[in-house]
Amino acid sequence: MTGKVTKAVFPVAGMGTRFLPATKSIPKEIMTLVDRPLIQYAIDEARAAGITEFIFVTSRGKAALEDYFDHAPELESTLQRKGKTDILDMLQNTNMESGAIAYVRQYMALGLGHAVWCARRLIGDEPFAVILPDDVIAADTPCLQQMVEAHAETGGCMVAAMEVPADKASAYGVLDIKDDMGSIVGVKGMVEKPKREEAPSNLAVIGRYILTPNVLKNLNTIKEGAGGEIQLTDAIAQEIAEDRDVYGYRFRGQRYDCGSKAGYLQATVAFGLSRPELRDEFGSYLDEMASLRNAAE
Ligand code: UTP
Repeated sequence: MTGKVTKAVFPVAGMGTRFLPATKSIPKEIMTLVDRPLIQYAIDEARAAGITEFIFVTSRGKAALEDYFDHAPELESTLQRKGKTDILDMLQNTNMESGAIAYVRQYMALGLGHAVWCARRLIGDEPFAVILPDDVIAADTPCLQQMVEAHAETGGCMVAAMEVPADKASAYGVLDIKDDMGSIVGVKGMVEKPKREEAPSNLAVIGRYILTPNVLKNLNTIKEGAGGEIQLTDAIAQEIAEDRDVYGYRFRGQRYDCGSKAGYLQATVAFGLSRPELRDEFGSYLDEMASLRNAAE
């Protein structure tokens, strides 16, 4: 099934245990890279890909995330009065149209597949995107836009994929490759978090998907999989088992796993260095740190 992709699901109901104690009161998606919360990067990427309806799957303790999308009239009028038009423009660019965002609740963190299933009534009978905001991707053409363009040619389900070292594959969903066509890969199987010796390739799925509504039907019956969670990977693998097309997409860009501390720190450095106003001062500081570290070794 092809067709324009206009809806995106943002599953943000996870517990974020790797960032405790911060995530006791701050949703992981509100943590910032420089000055923008992770969720803003995800929204900007979705908008660039033509998404107009944004569905958040939330849970208890995520109020700060909902508040983030409210307009801020007092702040805006103060900036206006003070003539801070640059900041005002930047702020207004983050404003969302009324009604563009919907929130559904996942009452228990039963897994990513379950979180996506919670959005089923808002998706209807059309292909939709899923974006995991803790995977931040720096790219000239935003990753989801690359995928939407490729999906217009292929239809079916499409998952973002990247090569990972063999000893890391067991942390991901891994693709069993049928035909390798370069950026697009035909898939004949998918395994969530395989044991090292059982990984069918080193092509791993990361947090961008374009899915057919059939995947939601599959989720009606999917049982707990790896880690005792209802896995999105299993519902996509069922598409393959039933002879429907699933593709991997080797995106062009650098992905940061901001759900892990090391990935988040790497992203902070990379995004800091990419800012013209910070590059010199921050770059010199990093050089200094590197030479101190070398001297200490
Ligand atoms: P993670 O595997 O990163 O889990 O979820 P987590 O709870 O966010 O973080 P840790 O592992 O405890 O530190 C991947 C994505 O799926 C969402 C998360 O919010 C994140 O965007 N998710 C996961 C849900 O929405 N619901 C779930 O039940 C599980």
